[in-house]
Formats: sequence, structure tokens, C-alpha cells
Amino acid sequence: MTIDPHTDAHIDAHVQEINTAMWSNGEYRHVADLLRPGAVELVERLAPAPGTRHLDVATGNGNVALLTALRGCAVDGLDLTDEFFPDARQRFAEASVTVGLHRGDAQRLPFPDASFDLVTSTYGVQFAPDHAAAAGEMARVLRPGGRVGMCNWTARSWTAHFQEILSAYFPSPNGHQGQPMLWGSEDHLAELFGPGCTVRGERRELFYPFATAEDLVAFFEECFGPCITAKNTISPASRWRELRAEMVEMTEEFHTTDERGTGVPVEYLLAVVEKAPEKEGEAP
Ligand SMILES: C[S@@+](CC[C@H](N)C(=O)[O-])C[C@H]1O[C@@H](n2cnc3c(N)ncnc32)[C@H](O)[C@@H]1O
Repeated sequence: MTIDPHTDAHIDAHVQEINTAMWSNGEYRHVADLLRPGAVELVERLAPAPGTRHLDVATGNGNVALLTALRGCAVDGLDLTDEFFPDARQRFAEASVTVGLHRGDAQRLPFPDASFDLVTSTYGVQFAPDHAAAAGEMARVLRPGGRVGMCNWTARSWTAHFQEILSAYFPSPNGHQGQPMLWGSEDHLAELFGPGCTVRGERRELFYPFATAEDLVAFFEECFGPCITAKNTISPASRWRELRAEMVEMTEEFHTTDERGTGVPVEYLLAVVEKAPEKEGEAP
């Protein structure tokens, strides 16, 4: 695929720097392992045929991109930071698949109109501050009749509560002012993508298997970049201890034992948006 060679010029350098610094803390791939079942669900739901031109937005270390590449799709992955690309490349090489990786912003995709049959994002695009711009870009690069598939945290999920506590103590340095959890609502998606698209959503759950709430919080404290950045930045240190205690208390509310084992269910919306096909006689 031909892409704009000036990809980096599309990204606000300051946001890029903050994001990269934030994610470079910790071992993100362990968090990506927790998210992987969402990617599996989404790809099974979409069942893309071999040859499908697929763009995975906010690809991270390539959870979704790897699965569609294994199905024979022609895949590109894009992320605001290239911090996870070495890990992604290693995964792709181990699976003997090729995926194009691009550093770029979901709000200004560096691809021509109608370049893809399928655009996805799992737990990613919802963090772009300008929702309308991000949705507009996903729809623009999609061909008529193509699909957008997403997994988005919902407003009542454990993640929403986690983010709420984190941002009360440590407002996001790169300006997540756009209420990311709104992307977990079909109504919001219908409004964002507009009348030219139909939206179908199903609520699903990931399950984070931790014996105690304390174990889960300790894991995020060790592996999740934004959490580590907050811990290293919040002053005095007693404020971090307060935040952490709130996290554990909140997580205890979700912690459960059921047929999945012992851990924390985390709700998300699995959404598929279909872009209307071209009407007969319409210019391509
Ligand atoms: C929780 S990770 C999810 C990664 C991957 N989709 C997965 O499911 O494993 C969120 C990702 O969104 C990316 N991201 C956040 N804002 C973005 C933006 N405006 N454009 C592109 N990527 C973005 C982050 O850099 C990060 O890699």
C-alpha cells in the first residue's frame, strides 16, 4: 500500500512524545495478553476473507492485525506510538506473516479515501480526544459497503472506574478530554458515524484472572505505562498510596468467582459499523 511518506508530520509532536514516554514504562505486552481474547472475539465475529484489505487503528503490539494476517488479509497497523512495534514485528515474524506498521494518529489517517475493506480498533480509537474526527477518518478510508469493527470499554466497566480514579489524581497529560467511554454506547457510535452507516453492538466481557483485587492492581502498577507514569509523577508519594487504595477498593466491587474462575470481569461493546454500499450510478 502506498502511504503518505510524511506520516510523522500528521502527529502533534508533543502528544507523540508524551504518549511514547508514557507507554515506554512497564511491560505492556502482558497487558496486551489480557486484551487478546477481545481481538479473537472481534475477528471471529467479522470473519474477514483472505485478501481483505484491513487497517487496524491503535494496533499496539498487533493483537488484531496478527489474527487477520493469519487469515490471509492484507494488513496495515497504525499507532500513535511506535513503542510496541518491535514486539509486534517479532510476533508477525514468528507467525510468518507480513503487516505494514505505521506511526500515525487515528484523527488524521495517512491513507487515501476508500483504501480498506475493513477497519478495526480494539480498546484504542476510543482514546483519541476528537471523536468525530477519528470516526470520520475511519469511515473515510473505508470503501463503500466496508465494515468498521471495534471493541470499546463501556461506561460501567472496570476500566472506566480505573480511568476515573487515575484521572482524578493525575489528569491525562495528553488531553483525553473526549470521554473515551462514550464509544462503548451504540447511540454514540450511531451519532458519530452518521446516517450513512448502520451500527450493531453486543456487550461482552473480558475476564482478568487475578486471585485478589490487590493482585490485579499490583499487576497494572507494574505493567501498564499510564499507571506507572502516574505513580512516578504524583507527589507527594502518599497521594499515590491513596489512589492505589481507592483502586483496590473499587476493584474489590468487581472481583468475583464464577465458571470462568476467580478474577475481574471487564465489560466492553463489540460493535460492527457497516458503511452503506454505493448506489447504482453513483461515481466511485
Ligand atoms: C490499550 S492499547 C490497545 C492496543 C491494541 N489495540 C490491543 O487491543 O491490544 C491502546 C492503544 O491506543 C493507542 N492510541 C491512543 N490514542 C491514539 C490515537 N489518537 N491514534 C492512534 N493510536 C492511539 C495507544 O498508543 C495504544 O497503543
